[in-house]
Amino acid sequence: MNLIIVEDYQELSLKAAEMVASEISQNPQVVLGLATGSTPEGMYAELVKMNRHGQLDFSRVSTFNLDEYAGLDAEHEQSYHHYMYKHLFSHVNINHLQINMPTCEVSDLDHFCREYDQRIAAAGGIDLQVLGIGGNGHIGFNEPDHQLRVQTHLVDLTVETITANSRFFSSTEEVPKQAITMGLGSIMLAKKILLLAAGKNKAEAIAGSLSGLITTALPASLLQLHRDVTVIADREAACLIT
Ligand code: GLP
Repeated sequence: MNLIIVEDYQELSLKAAEMVASEISQNPQVVLGLATGSTPEGMYAELVKMNRHGQLDFSRVSTFNLDEYAGLDAEHEQSYHHYMYKHLFSHVNINHLQINMPTCEVSDLDHFCREYDQRIAAAGGIDLQVLGIGGNGHIGFNEPDHQLRVQTHLVDLTVETITANSRFFSSTEEVPKQAITMGLGSIMLAKKILLLAAGKNKAEAIAGSLSGLITTALPASLLQLHRDVTVIADREAACLIT
């Protein structure tokens, strides 16, 4: 894994945006896998700036989001759908027909999950997958477990994740208990992966994922098996790496 340690969140956001921008410049039809959460917000802000300044063209880019809560409709302000429009899609010249987001708001969820994976495959797979990491090492919403799923699926969120994400809701009770997430298959088949981590609450997960045993108890540790992973971590998130 290629590890880049940066001073602070601002530098992380800029470096991450530069890497995404470089992929778009090299291949205007690039297929991006996108993440939500507080970590990539700064990166999206930088990408919006580049687009506004005419330095970056999203018109032929396709995107596939990693995950979405179950039980929140797209308009809910904590839905990942809402997040993506708020931080990126409403501000850049992306073709909205090329935006793909998973959702549980369908009559046949199993069919939707299969179809989402087929859509990714039909687009030629993901060229660059952006990932954050949960404090428990989850990627997307692939939670620590004794086994991990390959395909897009419905997942029960762990107490750790519900507690961590309760900061976005007025109470823990309001946090959805389930979500839909891309499985490890689409993530590991991405040609490149960019993992972002900021803050000391990510330090243990980052240290374990980069150099510890590969285990489904720490989903991000599986990334050690991927050929092209770049990790951008700030000093705090990197402080336990040996
Ligand atoms: C959420 C998302 C993940 C994200 C992670 C970290 O649960 N499903 O995709 O990477 O938590 O979020 P944050 O960046 O807010 O710490």
